[in-house]
Amino acid sequence: MEMRRLGKTGPQVSAIGLGCMGMSGMYGPADRAESIATIHAALDAGVNLLDTGDFYGMGHNEMLIGEAIKDIPRERYLLSVKFGALRGPDNTWNGYDSRPAAIRNFLAYTLTRLGVDHIDIYRPARLDPNVPIEETVGALADLVKAGYIRHIGLSEVGAETIRRAAGVAPIADLQIEYSLISRGIEDEILPTCRELGIDITAYGVLSRGLISGHWQKENAAAKGDFRGFSPRFQEGNVDRNLALVEELRRIAETKGVTVAQIAIAWVAAQGKDIVPLVGARRRDRLRESLGALDVKLTADDLAAIERAVPKGAAAGARYPEAQLAHMDSEK
Ligand SMILES: NC(=O)c1ccc[n+]([C@@H]2O[C@H](COP(=O)([O-])OP(=O)(O)OC[C@H]3O[C@@H](n4cnc5c(N)ncnc54)[C@H](OP(=O)(O)O)[C@@H]3O)[C@@H](O)[C@H]2O)c1
Repeated sequence: MEMRRLGKTGPQVSAIGLGCMGMSGMYGPADRAESIATIHAALDAGVNLLDTGDFYGMGHNEMLIGEAIKDIPRERYLLSVKFGALRGPDNTWNGYDSRPAAIRNFLAYTLTRLGVDHIDIYRPARLDPNVPIEETVGALADLVKAGYIRHIGLSEVGAETIRRAAGVAPIADLQIEYSLISRGIEDEILPTCRELGIDITAYGVLSRGLISGHWQKENAAAKGDFRGFSPRFQEGNVDRNLALVEELRRIAETKGVTVAQIAIAWVAAQGKDIVPLVGARRRDRLRESLGALDVKLTADDLAAIERAVPKGAAAGARYPEAQLAHMDSEK
């Protein structure tokens, strides 16, 4: 497995990370035993980066990962954890809290659920509009000093916030959506990260499965499945987006690879400072994703992909309106 350092002072991570969110209901029901087997298969393949959030299934995702890693030596995996999102017992999303006391509280629960004594990369899931980023990052820097977390990351914040955060303490990576059909970071956010030596852990590289080559219009999103609310999966938009996938399929077939592998390889080809997080929750999907590491895209391939899916080609926004309103990266 190819490894790289995350940011100037971050940990050595595998060239692909495993995002575990889908294992806790965000994309409808998931099979617990298969989820754990997928985490084990990823670690066996040399993936060492596991991404989660304390609010994924209200702690379910951390407890699942905790079970998967309990007999595995600590040096074999890195835990990247997001905190701050406030949930309700009815599954609602109720804003964000990144006050220092709240962070210490979230972290205490996270360490217990995961069954570990430190988190490798800890990050606010979104900017809390009521707390200056300097205060949040300052609290995280104190937790680094105390040994409870090793590195600080950010998620879905814009260039100005990134600069302010980096002025307080070293930032390993920015976690943000980046894919063939979500290219918003290219104009300002990615250049800012590059200037500051902050890497990207890219999520949604398959646009939640939409550009995986496996999604069909007839797939009905189960209750609570994000895709049931995502503008890109809605009637009208989904047809236009799946037409783009068929363009990609032609390119994939000429290279003897799959659509998902082309989509992941495209993200990886945008720079060594970009680590795709794949959201596999089954071993077959994981195997397919990891196959992307062997796909070499030539300049001609990249040009053909750009013609097939030009920047801005997707129909529909990447999140529903109400969630976009919380995203500093979209301001
Ligand atoms: N920082 C943030 O704001 C944020 C937001 C979202 C996610 N994340 C993190 O990023 C990770 C990845 O994001 P994501 O789950 O949205 O990404 P994704 O990789 O774009 O979508 C994952 C979904 O695509 C489908 N899929 C089809 N073929 C696949 C294949 N070969 N490999 C993997 N998935 C395939 C799967 O759905 P089916 O299983 O239904 O086929 C899977 O659940 C998450 O797990 C989470 O840790 C972070």
